[in-house]
Amino acid sequence: MKIARFSRIGFILAAAGSAVGLGNIWKFPYIAGEYGGGAFVLVYLFTVLLIGFSIMIAEMLIGYMGRKDTVTSFETLAPVNKHLWKYAGFQGLAGLFIMIFYSVVIGWIFHYIVTSLFTLPATVKEAESIFTRMLHSDFLTQLFYHSLAFVCITYVLTKGIKGGIEKLNMVLMPLLMIILVGMFTYATTLGAFSRAVEFMFYPDWGKINSDAFVTAVGHAFFTLSLGMGAIMTYSASLEKNSNIVKSAFWVVFLDTTIAIIAGLMLFTFLYEYGSGPAKGPGLVFISLPAVFYEMGIIGNFFAVLFFIALAFAGLTSSVSLVEPMVQYFIDRFSWSRLKASIMMGLFFYLLGIVAILSNIDGFAKYLTWGGKNFFDWVDYITAAIMLPLGGLIMAVFVGFVIDKSKVESFMKPQLGFAFEAWYFSLRYITPVAMFVVMLSLMGLL
Ligand code: PHE
Repeated sequence: MKIARFSRIGFILAAAGSAVGLGNIWKFPYIAGEYGGGAFVLVYLFTVLLIGFSIMIAEMLIGYMGRKDTVTSFETLAPVNKHLWKYAGFQGLAGLFIMIFYSVVIGWIFHYIVTSLFTLPATVKEAESIFTRMLHSDFLTQLFYHSLAFVCITYVLTKGIKGGIEKLNMVLMPLLMIILVGMFTYATTLGAFSRAVEFMFYPDWGKINSDAFVTAVGHAFFTLSLGMGAIMTYSASLEKNSNIVKSAFWVVFLDTTIAIIAGLMLFTFLYEYGSGPAKGPGLVFISLPAVFYEMGIIGNFFAVLFFIALAFAGLTSSVSLVEPMVQYFIDRFSWSRLKASIMMGLFFYLLGIVAILSNIDGFAKYLTWGGKNFFDWVDYITAAIMLPLGGLIMAVFVGFVIDKSKVESFMKPQLGFAFEAWYFSLRYITPVAMFVVMLSLMGLL
């Protein structure tokens, strides 16, 4: 059977599609707001360059050399203890877990596309009550849109790498960029734009504490889709003789640029029409709709476009979150793609329903443990433990386990004199940083 491979541009768009997601447009602005902007943004940018970029290259390299699902790739590339190293491949599970809440959030976005067509809340208070009503008492609406997300995502996965994932990204990614750049351009014409720039880039180091630092590192990881096999699985379908470093550069560049554009645009709108940088996850679902209302009729138009862009970003990430386990069952158990896609889809779909219920009044108390409900637990376990652990393992694997000569023969021609710096970062900087992040996210530091 001929194996379908990504085209060069298809791979870059698919990997960038994975990276650019709810993390960039929904999460980054609100955590930047929470930690006071400037200094946080700079720490984040620094981590993306220093740690994110090197792990991105390492993860692409494992996929590219391994050529299979994540478990098989670790197993074949490990020179010794193959039976143990194969377990490193189970980082692909993190994606399925993330999907449990990711799909629910995409459902909320679908719902907001539809409602923004007709009405927007006149005040933040009203917006808040609409959002909390949906979250805590409207099970059926959430179920309906979560089901829609499940159907779209699973359908694309059944179509495979070329006909599904590549196609989806070739269409949605350019559209997403056009929408964002268009809205950003409008934002630059508003008076509040310079305040947004100042907020995002003027560092107030007094606001930076270890918590902000850890959040920045954790987010750099999440936003680049590292540590859970998405980039690795896509890289297994790279053409021979691909330039990994160039692709990694483009993915990091696009992801970072889009996060900054989205942040500047949102903060401009919030300053111009609202009360300034709002905090918390409600930024996009609460403050923003009220801000769009203030804009008048163009606000409805912008609101719909904005939520469409957010949905596109979420969908292209979703397929990459599920694909590693789909590939695993295809490679290891010879499942058909159809069967693997549907089974993995059902996994996140059914648990996603539990995540919805864990916010619903009356059910929440049965699905809350230790102050976190099921929804928040899944978020916490994936972001605080699974992703940093995945990153740590990959850095150690490429830095210490695979023969240096083998790594060198692949990477030296692409990295040139930067090879040693990259290798050093993988061996010594990244693992330590990941370990510290993991411990402190787990509350042990
Ligand atoms: N990078 C995606 C985002 O920013 C989330 C994601 C994480 C996707 C891990 C795939 C793998 O939303």
